[in-house]
Amino acid sequence: MDLKRAPLADKSSPKVNPTVARGADTHGQVDESGDRTPQGADDHADGSRFQCPQGHRNALNAILADAYALYIKTKNFHWHMSGPHFRDYHLMFDEQADQILATTDAIAERVREIGGTTLRSIGHIGRLQRVLDNDADFVTPEDMLAELAEDNRNIGGPSSRSP
Ligand SMILES: [Fe+2]
Repeated sequence: MDLKRAPLADKSSPKVNPTVARGADTHGQVDESGDRTPQGADDHADGSRFQCPQGHRNALNAILADAYALYIKTKNFHWHMSGPHFRDYHLMFDEQADQILATTDAIAERVREIGGTTLRSIGHIGRLQRVLDNDADFVTPEDMLAELAEDNRNIGGPSSRSP
């Protein structure tokens, strides 16, 4: 009885689009031939591979764009806070911004893992974001809190942009 384990990657199975695999960071897997294989092309017991539909990748990229937009807005409000609660809100927004930013790498790398490409620039974020920017000269602390609360509730949901 041959106890050698069958290779995980069937050479006849669909290969990764090389343009997708190219630029993958250190998380990519290299098969026996030295080819980089997609993290998200999960190997199934029958040797077939699964890749998430494009819609899943697009949805994750939109969430990622929203996360960056919300990060910038939160920092914007951190920097422009005013009023008697300045210190508390200033610090709270900084903490929230850090937490939002900390989610981005995992989201982007997940998109790569499931066979997609992800954000490349600030312009790309601007094209995908649904969280609205706030470039107002002055925003009251109460309005900052309300707007960020609303944005946080909506992130990942349907577009928060008015039709
Ligand atoms: Fe700061």
